[in-house]
Amino acid sequence: MIPMSDALAQIDQIAQAAREELKAVRSPAELEQYRIKFLGSKGLLKGLSRLIGTAPREQKPVVGQRVNQTNAEIEAAFGELKQTLAHDATGDRDYVDVTEPGSRPKIGNRHILMKVVDELTELFGRMGFSVASGPEVEDDFHNFVALNIPEAHPARDPLDNFYLETSSHQGQLLLRTQTSTVQIRVMEREKPPIRVVIPGRVYRPDTTDATHLPMFHQLEALVVDRNVTMVDLKSTIMQFVHAYFGAQAKVRFRPSFFPFTEPSAEVDVWFEDKQRWIELGGCGMVHPNVFTNCKIDPEENTGWAFGLGIERIAMRKYGIQDIRSFVENDVRFLRQF
Ligand code: DAH
Repeated sequence: MIPMSDALAQIDQIAQAAREELKAVRSPAELEQYRIKFLGSKGLLKGLSRLIGTAPREQKPVVGQRVNQTNAEIEAAFGELKQTLAHDATGDRDYVDVTEPGSRPKIGNRHILMKVVDELTELFGRMGFSVASGPEVEDDFHNFVALNIPEAHPARDPLDNFYLETSSHQGQLLLRTQTSTVQIRVMEREKPPIRVVIPGRVYRPDTTDATHLPMFHQLEALVVDRNVTMVDLKSTIMQFVHAYFGAQAKVRFRPSFFPFTEPSAEVDVWFEDKQRWIELGGCGMVHPNVFTNCKIDPEENTGWAFGLGIERIAMRKYGIQDIRSFVENDVRFLRQF
């Protein structure tokens, strides 16, 4: 037989342990361990019931009452903690671990070609050029006629142009093959002095390979004023090439032919690392017929123009090997710039 004071002391001891250990529980898994240890069918609290049996008859009510009290108290506290932990798990509680390293959201960036366009327009901006633009769907007049390209010229060949299906009253429409069309649009709405650059998309039915796409970009320039000469043209191109590619880049002008300029030349740049000339585009003095077509007096004005391939420029500047990279949208390529 156990003396009552011992029985009560034993109950209190286990109650105390049950309270202490419950305070240390942090997770549902720990709570389950706790439940097995204290509240389970073989748990310590269940064991206390046995003390009632061993107590002398007259002491049973006192011991029994203490056991019941203890059970009720611990079960209530257990139930409360169980709810709190379940809440935490479903995130109901506003809880932020400020020490956890953040995850950076992935954001896009400006396309490398658009960055190059910005660099070029900014550079020409510093030389006093403003930026102009025009439509990509053009008419026969702006793509050919006004640019002094006669009816029978091979440049009009359907194999070299994306002609659009149009109804008869619309006239012939096509995707522009050159940004030179915008020279006409600028001269139609502005009178000299004119000093503009025109970055834009152009379209030609070329077979796609490492150096050709059916859609690419050109940077066109047009200067019209009194006493504008070929020297202005050449020095502007040389300044641009040196500013953009470095002082070691050499520039060469090769005589050429374009219907809208006279004289005309092609611009090559010498790249020391490649040990070769790379053609950037064409240029020349604006043909008097082009002025007349835009109602500008060729007796009073002279002008020059050029049209350079922007992909070529970007590829040289950034060491890009294949022109198709610009349009494949491979983020591993795009993220490099
Ligand atoms: N439009 C020509 C082309 O696409 C390039 C060109 C040559 C533009 C001479 C010009 C120029 O402005 O003066 O091949």
